[in-house]
Amino acid sequence: MELSERISRISVSSTLAVVQKATQLRASGVSLIDFGAGEPDFPTPENIKNAAIQAIHQNFTKYTPTSGIKELKEAIVGRHAKDFGSNYKIEECLVTVGGKQAIFEAVAATINHGDEVIMPVPYWVSYLDIVNYCGGKVVPLATREEDNFQVSAAAVGKLITPKTRLIIVNSPNNPTGAVIPDEEMGKLLALAVSKNLLLMTDECYCQFLYDGRKPFSLGHSGNRNNLIITGSLSKTYAMTGWRVGFALGAKKLLSNMLNLQSHSTSNPTSISQKAAVEALRGPQDSVQVMLAEYQRRRDKIVAGLRAIPGITCAMPAGAFYVYPNVGAYLKKDGVADCKVLVDRLLEEAHVAVVPGPGFGTDEHVRLSYATSMENIEEGLERMKKFFSEL
Ligand SMILES: Cc1ncc(COP(=O)(O)O)c(C=O)c1O
Repeated sequence: MELSERISRISVSSTLAVVQKATQLRASGVSLIDFGAGEPDFPTPENIKNAAIQAIHQNFTKYTPTSGIKELKEAIVGRHAKDFGSNYKIEECLVTVGGKQAIFEAVAATINHGDEVIMPVPYWVSYLDIVNYCGGKVVPLATREEDNFQVSAAAVGKLITPKTRLIIVNSPNNPTGAVIPDEEMGKLLALAVSKNLLLMTDECYCQFLYDGRKPFSLGHSGNRNNLIITGSLSKTYAMTGWRVGFALGAKKLLSNMLNLQSHSTSNPTSISQKAAVEALRGPQDSVQVMLAEYQRRRDKIVAGLRAIPGITCAMPAGAFYVYPNVGAYLKKDGVADCKVLVDRLLEEAHVAVVPGPGFGTDEHVRLSYATSMENIEEGLERMKKFFSEL
């Protein structure tokens, strides 16, 4: 049977592909060091789990409004207001099945066939596929490792054409951990306003900022016409499997995203929604505990990678990823490209990392340090040996 042209525009995410391979190896008894998975190794905090258990006992197990329960929308806009000084109303909030659904729906609701979408490279894998699936054209904005992958509004401005419709930024960034300075974010919004475009800011990692830096959101600007914020509870509260995310923005845009949601997933899981209310309204100390631990691990892994001859590594300012450059080891004996290198690292050293091409660059690999310090130390040892023998 012929498949649609639309579906052929996308492929499985390179992150998930690595997770699949790593799972197979682990199942065959290999002791694997897994830097592939982009999710917290911490368990979901007890108070959040208990809220879900209580929801089950209270039979809160039926359909809910497609856009999410009122209590959760209140909790989302309330926390956002508290953390960032925004003032969204609950009609300007849509609860989604993970942040990914919010991003998908926002892109689907805003771009027409052939519209251009500007995004900095490296980008999170799914942005590219989502835009391609929706018929848009990705316009990549190159960044430089030497500048810590910085994004500048002036550089974005140069890429704008009459076909540009959307700009997507993600700070802190997956895969680099780069953070766009607050002032530059303001300039990006001003640019979107002046050109009448939509700016999507993906705040998935917004609470994970290092070296004392304060979380920031453009939500405080009050702009609705040119700004859509997507967020997620997955990383902040170690809730990846619960699938709760959200969008904040103009009522008209959200109501159209809701239409799409009503014909695809319907509401996010009722039980997860109750857990999410507790996550947002309950004690927040687990976030700080995770942040402190991630910072310790970041320091360790960056120092370890930089100590491997030939590898360079920008210092991440947030999230829990590093994006070292392994270009010096490509085109060596039997290493045709980054993917081959990653396969050999997995098969020979039993270390899982994600190849850079999925994020738009040829010479990098992504490592997630949301794994224990022991794993990081062992993984660094294995990589040191692997690269020295290459
Ligand atoms: C940059 C970025 N945005 C959004 C998401 C979506 O997360 P979720 O759908 O679990 O909320 C992820 C997940 O890895 C991500 O890395």
